[in-house]
Amino acid sequence: MAKVKTTFFCQNCGAQYAKWQGQCNACKEWNTIVEEVIQKPEKSDWKLPTTTVKKVSVPLQIKDIDVSKEPRLNTFDAEFNRVLGGGIVPGSLTLLGGEPGIGKSTLLLQISLKLPYKTLYVSGEESQKQIKMRAERINPENNNCYILTETKTQNIFKQIETLEPDIVIIDSIQTLHSDYIESSSGSISQIKECTAELIKFAKETATPVLLIGHITKDGNIAGPKILEHMVDTVLQFEGDRNHVFRILRAHKNRFGSTNELGIYEMQGSGLREVSNPSEILISKKDEELSGNAIVATLEGVRPLMIEVQALVSTAVYGTPQRSATGFNVKRLNMLLAVLEKRAGFRLGAKDVFLNITGGITVDDPAIDLAVVASILSSNEDVSLQKDFCFAGEVGLSGEIRPVQRVDQRILEAEKLGFSTIFVSKYNKISLKNTVIKIQLISKIEDLVAYVT
Ligand code: TYD
Ligand code: MG
Repeated sequence: MAKVKTTFFCQNCGAQYAKWQGQCNACKEWNTIVEEVIQKPEKSDWKLPTTTVKKVSVPLQIKDIDVSKEPRLNTFDAEFNRVLGGGIVPGSLTLLGGEPGIGKSTLLLQISLKLPYKTLYVSGEESQKQIKMRAERINPENNNCYILTETKTQNIFKQIETLEPDIVIIDSIQTLHSDYIESSSGSISQIKECTAELIKFAKETATPVLLIGHITKDGNIAGPKILEHMVDTVLQFEGDRNHVFRILRAHKNRFGSTNELGIYEMQGSGLREVSNPSEILISKKDEELSGNAIVATLEGVRPLMIEVQALVSTAVYGTPQRSATGFNVKRLNMLLAVLEKRAGFRLGAKDVFLNITGGITVDDPAIDLAVVASILSSNEDVSLQKDFCFAGEVGLSGEIRPVQRVDQRILEAEKLGFSTIFVSKYNKISLKNTVIKIQLISKIEDLVAYVT
């Protein structure tokens, strides 16, 4: 192997050093200096397939660029395809992050077992036997999926060269290490170098690569932020480990929108795609309970009916408690202040707890109206009619503001058999002859009449 040259750079200011040191002399930041490869051997780590001709890029007028037949690899998983924007783009790098035990390895193994292409699943975390045992629970019949347990990138590329897979999955990027860098696996410089090698491989051979990434305590993908800049797509697999639902979101997507959402249910035999989430997210009850309200939200382009639960009780301590699961506490405080000022409810001396059922976090502002309705219902201990649902944003002066794509929300509510939907008077509704009653309201006081 020809000589490899590495040097040390400060990640904060870019100053260069010949050896490692704890503090950067230039910007005085601590622990920002990492090793990087500056010169590699001539030979590539893999051989280019003979069919791939290396093209020299020439400038084209934007109208001449042909995007019509950008091919996508179907993953045979409707939720995964949707989040990616229609399938995997050849030569792209996709990073999947998520908490330990949430099901990242299960999801990608399951997808590689479904694919009719030759897939290479590289694991640095589990043995081939462990993976086989997991695969047997999911779907034992597949002859296209190859499992490799290896952590050294140079060896992985050697195997890729002989196997020539159509898609490569790496579990996980933090376990890989490259010979060119001396630091241990999982360090910033190793992650950067290994990702750079994989990007080069993906782009030059048009093979898509899916990476699994660990996340840190505060939910970011472990390693340098630059990792997220380097890859084409960053997906996050989230959910409460005590709930069965798992949500796949795109945080960054160079080939599609980041609004789409994929929902899975963890079962004994792997992850099941949930294609009609509304029916599952609403608990079916015969009794009417106070403090429950249903919201017609949208995640991406998909309507979703979600249940909001509130509990309002007299505060025991001087400072009332406010807590919310799946909803922003600051927003909850704001809504309580609006209720106090505009509708005259003395909530200042009450504890308020709010829960979005199913372990889902929603950031659609249309949820406000359901939150307000559930708080009022719990406060008065009067249950809402169980076939009511809500979609509206609440403004600071207590006005109910319109929400986007209201027609779609109304149709979903109608489909699920709700009798009435409360929406803002200012929404432009183009639907006609709906079975569901559309109750238009303009301010919070209008809602109070239905709840108390
Ligand atoms: P895993 O996919 O290894 O998570 P990650 O790679 O994100 O750390 O583990 C997922 C969890 O799901 C694990 O605790 C066991 C559980 N599980 C099931 O419930 N059903 C299954 O079929 C499989 C394979 C796992
Ligand atoms: Mg794993």
